[in-house]
Amino acid sequence: MITLKSPREIETMRRSGKITSKVLTDLMKAARPGMTTAQLDAMAEKGIRELGGIPTFKGYHGYTASICASVNDEVVHGIPGDRVLKDGDLLSIDIGTTFEGYVSDSAVTVPIGTISRNAQQLLDVTQECLMVGIAQMKRGNHIGDIGAAVQKHAESHGYGVVRELVGHGVGTAMHEEPQVPNYGKPGTGALLRPGLVLAIEPMITEGDYQVEILKDGWTVVTADGKLAAHFEHTIAVTDDGPKILTLRNCGEHPDVEKYRPKEEAVA
Ligand code: MF3
Ligand code: CO
Repeated sequence: MITLKSPREIETMRRSGKITSKVLTDLMKAARPGMTTAQLDAMAEKGIRELGGIPTFKGYHGYTASICASVNDEVVHGIPGDRVLKDGDLLSIDIGTTFEGYVSDSAVTVPIGTISRNAQQLLDVTQECLMVGIAQMKRGNHIGDIGAAVQKHAESHGYGVVRELVGHGVGTAMHEEPQVPNYGKPGTGALLRPGLVLAIEPMITEGDYQVEILKDGWTVVTADGKLAAHFEHTIAVTDDGPKILTLRNCGEHPDVEKYRPKEEAVA
């Protein structure tokens, strides 16, 4: 069952999203060579709690940390630990906050020190994939329009789109219906209506899209060992178009119009 949120609930989710985005911004600034992923996790939990939130991931199906920290070929769900970040690593940070009973969920991939041109392009295109997906979140469109747009953008650069994991509805629970695949056909799936809140999260690979899970039962890695990137926002469909509830103040350009396909000129 898909639940639509009232404007009041969306406002609470925005406040939840503000905590998520503030703490995520701090983590992005802090992440550097020599640091461990456990240190970032400790910062995240402290930051979320200081702002009045609860780390959503902690205790979720037995997960022990407040963030996921996935390095290089790790796609998502990397468990923070004593791994030391080194120059040239790609780090994906995924974080969720529960505030007044409402969840916000967001992720970014950031360079650690200096990364290769290829890695930077993967990161840029994955962020663009998130934006082209968000740009489809207007009333009257369908879930399939989101995935189709993400897939088209990723594959136009020769990248892979992970199939096993998908975006999701979000609200009082982190994972609500509907599922939001990062691939698909335009015009298919549930109708997008005002009040629908989704976490869109493209997971894009440099090589093949096949993934495996490590023995820790959580960490998802690319099967071919190549790099992966992951960006995620929590977004509401409103009468005024998509509203990104986890928007970061610094360095993010919420110009969704830019990412909407131009109407094709009639020949
Ligand atoms: N943002 C992720 C998701 O939507 C992370 C949750 S994994 C957790 O699936 F178990 F750590 F919470
Ligand atoms: Co999510």
